[in-house]
Amino acid sequence: MTTHSLLILPGDGIGPEVMTEVRKVIDWFQTNKGIQFDVSEDLVGGAAYDKHGVPLADETMQKAQEVDAVLLGAVGGPAYDNLDFSVKPERGLLRLRKEMDLFANLRPAQCFDALADFSSLKREIVAGLDILIVRELTSGVYFGEPRGIHSDDNNPQNEGGRVGINTQRYTSGEIRRVARAAFELAKKRGNRVCSMEKANVMESGILWREEVQWVHDNEYPEVELSHMYADNGAMQLVRRPNQFDVIVTDNLFGDILSDAAAMLTGSLGMLPSASLGAPMANGRPKAMYEPVHGSAPDITGQGKANPIACILSFAMALRYSYDLGAEADLLEKAIEKVLADGVRTADLMGPDGGTPVSTSQMGDKIVEALSAL
Ligand code: NAI
Ligand code: MG
Repeated sequence: MTTHSLLILPGDGIGPEVMTEVRKVIDWFQTNKGIQFDVSEDLVGGAAYDKHGVPLADETMQKAQEVDAVLLGAVGGPAYDNLDFSVKPERGLLRLRKEMDLFANLRPAQCFDALADFSSLKREIVAGLDILIVRELTSGVYFGEPRGIHSDDNNPQNEGGRVGINTQRYTSGEIRRVARAAFELAKKRGNRVCSMEKANVMESGILWREEVQWVHDNEYPEVELSHMYADNGAMQLVRRPNQFDVIVTDNLFGDILSDAAAMLTGSLGMLPSASLGAPMANGRPKAMYEPVHGSAPDITGQGKANPIACILSFAMALRYSYDLGAEADLLEKAIEKVLADGVRTADLMGPDGGTPVSTSQMGDKIVEALSAL
């Protein structure tokens, strides 16, 4: 029987609180569906610093390289704000991303019907929304050379006398690998990819378009591919977001478009994410899953955290790391049911009030719904 290895890194603040609820879901799948998870748990962020003096121990890094998937809670908090930059909690997260070479960042925007009124858009525009933005994460203008702020003394026309430089730079290989990731994901979803760049004004955009097309024509002709300028993409995302399935785009456009898409669906407590790298020997991509939110020090220890973002991150692991798409669907249906029943953590309370449930009660309700479906 296949076992699915998972390294859980709860981290700081509400990270351990939401992870406790994910554990309930994992236990449910083991007990009721006979799926074997080989779960190990370790420290990251401030919690790792407290024990090891570093935000990620070498042996934890090693373990992360070997498992099918890593599930991370959140890192950071006021207790660690004054630490030296080199040992800040965030460095633990960055080390994981860098050493696992996680080049594809996945941000779904999914609208649960019961929460459609939380959207910044009209219900009829977001109802049923289920799109996935794949952002290239390790290259592009955030990393390209040359970069810096220089004096521009020889240019008398330049008031202030300085110039700031960043370089958008992509190799064909970097584009092809993230395109492949997007096509693979599309095959497990709606089989459509829309690639976004600015090929009208940027050479790197022309290369992007050509290489995505190349990967499509040579390796994924069965997936439907379209291209769109990123500025039009921004308009289309708020005008008619349902037209998309998978969107693949570069680091900068993806940063902005994924944040915009996130707000189509409401609360930070509902948003999962994943970062994928190259396929491992078993064909599965290296992968780390994490909620979009941080450690939420303002509500830590109060039972107020919404565990759904982290549970949905685990659902993504089911779908993309373990090939358990039906189980992922089931888990999402259970969450949909709980929300439809009016069960809400404090962050999901509308203006008309009601009594919020605790973090732990939300986890229990989701497990109950799994059993009822
Ligand atoms: P945050 O995401 O932790 O919190 C922002 C607001 O959203 C807070 O009011 C919080 O209570 C609320 N919130 C967040 N997650 C929630 C949930 N699951 N349920 C209910 N309410 C939720 O961002 P903030 O306050 O900017 O950062 C706090 C700490 O987290 C900082 O140390 C920051 O560096 C760290 N951080 C870590 C991230 C990560 O681990 N990936 C990402 C963002 C911030
Ligand atoms: Mg951003």
